[in-house]
Amino acid sequence: MKSKVTVIGAGNVGATCAQRVAQGGYADVVLLDIVEGMPQGKAIDMMHSHPIVGSSRSIVGTNSYDDTAGSDVVVITSGSPRKPGMSRDDLVAVNSAVMNSVVPQVLKHSPDCILIVVTNPLDAMVYLVLKISGLPSSRVMGMSGVLDTGRFRSIIAAHLDVSVQDVHACILGAHGDTMVIMPRLSTVGGVPLTQLLSKQEIDKLVDRSVKSGAEVVSLLKTGSAFYAPGIAAAQMAESIVLDSKRILPVCAYLDGQFGLSDIYLGVPAKIGADGVEKVLEFELTDEEKLALDKSAESVRELIAKLDLS
Ligand code: APR
Repeated sequence: MKSKVTVIGAGNVGATCAQRVAQGGYADVVLLDIVEGMPQGKAIDMMHSHPIVGSSRSIVGTNSYDDTAGSDVVVITSGSPRKPGMSRDDLVAVNSAVMNSVVPQVLKHSPDCILIVVTNPLDAMVYLVLKISGLPSSRVMGMSGVLDTGRFRSIIAAHLDVSVQDVHACILGAHGDTMVIMPRLSTVGGVPLTQLLSKQEIDKLVDRSVKSGAEVVSLLKTGSAFYAPGIAAAQMAESIVLDSKRILPVCAYLDGQFGLSDIYLGVPAKIGADGVEKVLEFELTDEEKLALDKSAESVRELIAKLDLS
């Protein structure tokens, strides 16, 4: 059966994601934006790379939701990125309006799809999309942890001068400054990081990791990170389309797990054809639980600013 992934927003993150999915060879891709001509031009350009990379999948650029009909997965990247000096939270009003415009149109044409939200402020936007869509929470998730762990893994690997492939990481909580990085569950070749580095060394890596999104923003000056975010969203789409049941760190709806309810937060989860098929819950230390509760509080403050009427 042919699979179809639509990416809403053909900007930096969306285009990167679309290209990655199409090159993965497991789905045809539709790339939609409100800007006329831009998604069409990017799609043609990407298609020209397919003979070179050996992908037979199609990428269609469009301004019409008709072309998105029957999508299995829809990745929402439309909205504004932050500029230097802005936090992700500053984007709440502008990007809420974008979600309100996009989500009903997506569902009209793809009522059975699974939604992956990338737009920031992530945890609040996923919650908003759940409410707008009326879908079961298993079919609405956000991309945060694949990116955040990717950043931490790459920083650990560089520090230890080892292959990133053997570095794994666990991060819980919000996609923002309150994210809860879990060094005791982050491993290098299966060995916990806490047994390889001192607390001071780990604290430095954690700090760099939490600030790495802002580091990219301050260097780019005209937008936020997009290569790693786009590729991270594509990895989630792949696990859904191929029903791989990967355990990925994603922004998932919590219904009592970790003592938290009616909130979206980063947690490890099984991602397959049914979306978020299971949240992996485990025991936290008192310190970790306090940090996760603080992170949840920061998300609830943003959710309180949403117009959910
Ligand atoms: N419908 C479709 N596309 C839209 C809409 C809309 N209602 N509103 C905006 N867009 C499009 C813009 O035209 C633009 O092409 O969304 C795209 C956003 O692209 P960029 O400005 O390049 O932003 P990007 O870096 O891709 O980030 C997108 O992802 O990581 C987050 O914080 C980031 O919220 C931001 C989002």
